[in-house]
Amino acid sequence: MPQAKPVRKAVLPVAGLGTRFLPATKAVPKEMLTVVDKPVVQYAVEEAQEAGIEEFIFVTGRGKETIENHFDHAYELEDTLADRNKTAELRALLAELPNAGNTCFTRQQKPLGLGHAVWCARKFVGDEPFAVLLPDDLMIGTPGAMKQMIAAYHDVGGGVIIAAEDRPREETKRYGVIAPGAVKGNAVEVKGVVEKPDPAKAPSTLCIIGRYILQPEVFAELGRGERGAGGEIQLTDSMAKLIGRMPFHAVRTKCDRYDCGDKLGFLQANIGVGLSRPDIAPALRKIIERLL
Ligand code: G1P
Repeated sequence: MPQAKPVRKAVLPVAGLGTRFLPATKAVPKEMLTVVDKPVVQYAVEEAQEAGIEEFIFVTGRGKETIENHFDHAYELEDTLADRNKTAELRALLAELPNAGNTCFTRQQKPLGLGHAVWCARKFVGDEPFAVLLPDDLMIGTPGAMKQMIAAYHDVGGGVIIAAEDRPREETKRYGVIAPGAVKGNAVEVKGVVEKPDPAKAPSTLCIIGRYILQPEVFAELGRGERGAGGEIQLTDSMAKLIGRMPFHAVRTKCDRYDCGDKLGFLQANIGVGLSRPDIAPALRKIIERLL
């Protein structure tokens, strides 16, 4: 089996308006809402970095400037921390920064769907495999979801890898749904994918989670601009066209997933991540017990 090309770049679609979180997201991008003490988008970047990915392409939109600022130096803050001898805080801030020249920000000029957002990154990805991380899906685990997926990618000889989770049948209309084939270790062969099917028509209850390893051939399919579910250009529809042309697998990651695109999922993320943090878990547990 020839060695699959390494995955060096990640695309983060962060153009969504966050209407489900108004008024919080009127002036603050939803990706900058915090889970415990980090913005949601930073979890996705750290997950990709842990998997060996060093280049980040953010597909943003109007009003998303704070995301760009977040991944840059903040000189006054850094100076002040240095003056006050807050070296641990300063070191942590600097360690989290991507290397200079390793981020780029492009805008999705119109909200035409996830497939269109990914297509907007095509010039920056070029002709190589790439990851896509949807920050709304917060994945917590060791190793992280993307690291598990890259391991599976090399095990099966490359191609496309998508993260998957079994969901109750009534939820299929919220997800891309997989028609599964043979199981190969940690991966399941993908025979088909369909975006947001009615529960009665869904090929299974194995749903796509917002983590992908894709091949550059997907851009030609996305470039056709065909509309799918909800009248949007869907990533799922273009991925479906790659089935049969290259290896295509789904991985059930061993991670906890929090849906930060949903109010309750976001609250659950704060509690779940808080309870997994040794520095605050004991106090947080007491607070929750008291509230109940
Ligand atoms: C997107 C994808 C869908 C996937 C989901 C995971 O949908 O289109 O296939 O299952 O992310 O979160 P969205 O949540 O943007 O509607």
